[in-house]
Amino acid sequence: MAKDFIVTPWEVKGEVDYDKLVKQFGTSIISDNLINKIEKHTGKLHYMLRRKIFFSHRDLDILLKEYEQGKKFALYTGRGPSGHTHIGHLIPWIFTKWLQDVFDAPLYFQITDDEKFLCKPNLSKEETNKLGYENALDLIALGFDPKKTFIFVDTDYSKTLYNVAIQIAKKVTASNAKSVFGFTNETNIGMYFWPAMQAAPCFLPSILSGEKIRTLIPAAIDQDPYWRIARDVAPKLGYPKTAAIHCSFLPALTGPSGKMSTSEGEQSTIFTTDDEKTVKNKIMKYAFSGGKDTLEEHRKHGGNPDIDISYQWLRFLEEDDKKLKKIYDDYSSGKLLSGELKQILVNKLNNFLKKHRENKEKAKKQLDKFILKD
Ligand code: TYM
Repeated sequence: MAKDFIVTPWEVKGEVDYDKLVKQFGTSIISDNLINKIEKHTGKLHYMLRRKIFFSHRDLDILLKEYEQGKKFALYTGRGPSGHTHIGHLIPWIFTKWLQDVFDAPLYFQITDDEKFLCKPNLSKEETNKLGYENALDLIALGFDPKKTFIFVDTDYSKTLYNVAIQIAKKVTASNAKSVFGFTNETNIGMYFWPAMQAAPCFLPSILSGEKIRTLIPAAIDQDPYWRIARDVAPKLGYPKTAAIHCSFLPALTGPSGKMSTSEGEQSTIFTTDDEKTVKNKIMKYAFSGGKDTLEEHRKHGGNPDIDISYQWLRFLEEDDKKLKKIYDDYSSGKLLSGELKQILVNKLNNFLKKHRENKEKAKKQLDKFILKD
């Protein structure tokens, strides 16, 4: 039977059925019971948990139980520098910042210049390395604590990482890598080794501290195949199995399905480097609308926020539940027009990006405080 959607670390196509994906990947839906347990520790729930944007996990229940017993854990996430950072990348990072604050956890952040050099035919090693440090500023701009946040760009931290990666690589066969990642005989051999490099930081907090520290990975669900490999080898190497918490994808602007991704083209993506005018033009021109064809029809029957990309983006970006509900209701009833809804998103993004640009400027001076190098 033909698959109606595809999710790999390099490609997301079609309308993702997240329930099916959870079964396919063998992860677990975050239950209401688990949400209540998180709330017990954090006081207030992050809106991305309330709205089930983060919806799936591996061993989060075990990690929380250990935390209750006084065991510390570390956060791990990352970025593949193939271009400028876009709004989709920020989704797991905004949530990670909250996790760092409420659990007082250190964050290990991997920037995979090696991966993007290996898998993107047109990018040089120098380009991906440079983009890596540029992308790091987007992370820092979100307010991470320099005392608890460790950023490393793979080729500049390769001695440490390689020593872990070879231990992992020895336990993973080519046929395993083919079935988990879809590699073929045409895939270059660098990529066959690559998953061991992304799995390595799962154990880095244990290695650096000499204690057994479990990691929790907040990321979109496309990255999960790596954690399968890391979790398989963890007991063989004597480390705790990494836990993960997965989010769904911020859709492409041109919607209504798929994920926002640089490879989907400029018109489907808002970058953190886009200026106010570009943001407005892209949204007004390309954001897929759930509105009706004519003003009369829209006023009479209302729009459909569930397929409207501007609304969908506000679900990911607008923290205030009341504001969001009002937008939903007004759009559904026809009170709010498509152009007006788009303008709400333009304002939200431009306010956010103005602050983000300022923070990124300041981050340039702070960068050294965050970087781990060999
Ligand atoms: P990359 O650079 O493709 O993506 C960085 C992070 O952004 C998430 N993401 C999205 N989240 C929501 N909506 C979207 N449209 C969207 N697009 C991307 C990704 O899931 C990821 O969390 N190989 C990795 C880099 C990496 C990594 C990690 C990522 C190394 N170690 C550990 C997560 C966790 C990559 O190329 O990510």
